[in-house]
Amino acid sequence: MSAQELNRIATAMVAAGRGILAADESSPTIKKRFDTISAESTEENRRAYREMLFTADGMAEHISGVIMFDETLRQSCADGTPFAKYLADRGVIPGIKVDAGAKPLAGYPGEKVTEGLDGLRDRLAEYHELGARFAKWRAVIDIADGIPTAYCLQANAHALARYAALCQEAGIVPIVEPEVLMDGGHDIARCEEVTAETLSRVFRELHAHRVLLEGMVLKPNMIVAGKKCKRQAGVDEVAEATIRCLRRYVPSAVPGIAFLSGGQSAEDATAHLNAMNRAGPHPWNLTFSYGRALQAPALEAWGGKVDRLAAGSAAFAKRARLNGLATLGEYRADMEKAA
Ligand code: 13P
Repeated sequence: MSAQELNRIATAMVAAGRGILAADESSPTIKKRFDTISAESTEENRRAYREMLFTADGMAEHISGVIMFDETLRQSCADGTPFAKYLADRGVIPGIKVDAGAKPLAGYPGEKVTEGLDGLRDRLAEYHELGARFAKWRAVIDIADGIPTAYCLQANAHALARYAALCQEAGIVPIVEPEVLMDGGHDIARCEEVTAETLSRVFRELHAHRVLLEGMVLKPNMIVAGKKCKRQAGVDEVAEATIRCLRRYVPSAVPGIAFLSGGQSAEDATAHLNAMNRAGPHPWNLTFSYGRALQAPALEAWGGKVDRLAAGSAAFAKRARLNGLATLGEYRADMEKAA
């Protein structure tokens, strides 16, 4: 695969007005989500739920790509059309989560390293056959007393870079996702410090692994205070700190940055993205690759009921549209009231 083709796909993933739907919850994670609405996590329920999202009105207008889990990439719409084909026919790029999850890092209590490199070359070849044109690998960095350690950051940066190089070899654009969690009691300054060190190591490793920066998408956390911190930063403060940090550590050769939502409310995730885009132009396009912030309202509206699929679709379509506007800096909080 040529560098131009990787760049063409990466650029399409982060095109202004559109962003990525992260619908790649693993089987244990989607079960947790379904538990919150008392829906049973059967294969058919998971399929029907994903179809509800993928076939929502206006989806292709605001969604450039969808990250799927292995099971979902092999599933189809009720009429038998494979999801990957359904999406690609509408100009939505199919993507695949390829990591095998964050596991405890031996010798480093409380820290994790993401697994999944063994056999990855062969899996990527199969995923390409199945229609995937981009992939995702998530590294998880927790903040607490004495962590993260330099070793944990390094181990995760190294794995991300090995994954990214293998993806590009297979003609698949890597989403490089180092997520600094917002679960702790740390303040926004500590989040910025840890994210800076994380990104610095990630890009050093990407260079060392000869990853083509023009053919990747970065998926970072925003710079926010931990959920348990007493002082939560306002929208403008989050936008300012996030842009400052990214400008310092993300080369302008990267076509785009697609944020994770990480546990922010749907409205906060949209408002933050909008504020950053209003403060542009920036060296890269700034968009979304949200999981919970796109899906939580849809999950609730659906409630696991066949007769509420349309309501679920509509709730998802609304978040997709508002986040699409946020990529242009054209979102306003009063739009939340309209249907
Ligand atoms: P959230 O937006 O819910 O953080 O999920 C994005 C994602 O893909 C995490 O890997």
